Amino acid sequence: MGLDRAASIEDLRRRAKRRIPRFAFDLVDGGAENERNMQRNSSAFEDVELTPRYLIDVSNIDTRANIFGRQFDLPFGMAPIGMLNAFWPDADVTIARLCKRENIPYVASSASSTTLERLAEASDGNGWFQLYVSGDDAVTDSLVTRAETAGYDVMMVTVDVPAAGKRDRDIRNQLAVPFKFTPDVLLQLMTKPVWSLTSLMHGTPNIANYADLLKSATSYADVQKTLITPGFTWDKLQALRARWKGKLLVKGILHPEDAIKCAELGIDGIVVSNHGGRQVAFGPPTIEALPAIAKAAGDKLTIILDSGIRRGADILRAKALGADFVFTGRALAYGVGAGGKDGAQRAMDILKLELVRAMGQLGAPVFSEMNPSDFPARVPAR
Ligand SMILES: Cc1cc2nc3c(=O)[nH]c(=O)nc-3n(C[C@H](O)[C@H](O)[C@H](O)COP(=O)(O)O)c2cc1C
Repeated sequence: MGLDRAASIEDLRRRAKRRIPRFAFDLVDGGAENERNMQRNSSAFEDVELTPRYLIDVSNIDTRANIFGRQFDLPFGMAPIGMLNAFWPDADVTIARLCKRENIPYVASSASSTTLERLAEASDGNGWFQLYVSGDDAVTDSLVTRAETAGYDVMMVTVDVPAAGKRDRDIRNQLAVPFKFTPDVLLQLMTKPVWSLTSLMHGTPNIANYADLLKSATSYADVQKTLITPGFTWDKLQALRARWKGKLLVKGILHPEDAIKCAELGIDGIVVSNHGGRQVAFGPPTIEALPAIAKAAGDKLTIILDSGIRRGADILRAKALGADFVFTGRALAYGVGAGGKDGAQRAMDILKLELVRAMGQLGAPVFSEMNPSDFPARVPAR
């Protein structure tokens, strides 16, 4: 199927699956343990009903959204994804440039396969930086300084990895960073020649921001120890708040009281996220966690949601339940995997077209003026 016949993000996902060796596809597509949480992220969206309002002039649809005093052309951005160049060569820069062209935020991950400096350049003023707090304060401090110097003015600190997620697919695939060329991997590479040749031209991807530190790492566990710490607590968040002069977002909030605590610490916004179902197998889908959080802290914080957005209408569902803005991770990743730069653009166009159509159908022509109380969302009881 050609890219122009891909009608949905799921179509692009299937196309990406055909082009990418299993171990690399699973790295992005997989979730924690039995993947129920990941699946429910999307199915819970499908279950949320919005009742359309008619006899409203929807001849001009305005998808713009204001976040932190800045106007973006669409109410969604690209979530931070580590090691994305393993999925498709140069995926990081391809998506960063796309976000600039579309005037939406691009979040560079601490664990990206391209340096944060190069991603600041590629996203050209539309970049935000996502921080993982390391067990080694010097490592964290150096990343924050680099992010400041590179010109990022919004930082998003991720809090939902106190312990690394257990992803069964990665264990089965014996995933290692850098990749180990086992006989099974070599066999997979032979069956995906386009991916293999393109990857060969670009070189083996690594976690670029820590390239020097990770030279001595021999296992994925070593890598994770450098990146994250089980000892990241509220007092460290408070210190980070004092240190970072720009806007500070906390990513990975699922409990209303944690949202309130963030507001008390002077955090500017939160991302209601479960890391795309990659961390906690037993937690709630984010669209179900959102209403209580919005009720508790919606007037004190900017509320962003991610995890499971696959349709334009999902963005309206999130807005109706209290989000100001959303992020998507895999939707644009599947696009780039399905067809490089053109595939990423196709994913963007699908989301945009679906969003514009859904705004017209719902009777909410101006995103920034959509009032949740006009569109009471029905969330089925489980
Ligand atoms: C392959 C992969 C790598 C990710 N890496 C990071 C990361 O480095 N930092 C982070 O905060 N979140 C990371 N995430 C989570 C995303 O930022 C985002 O929360 C998630 O993808 C949203 O769910 P969705 O993919 O269903 O849209 C990653 C997600 C995926 C799929």
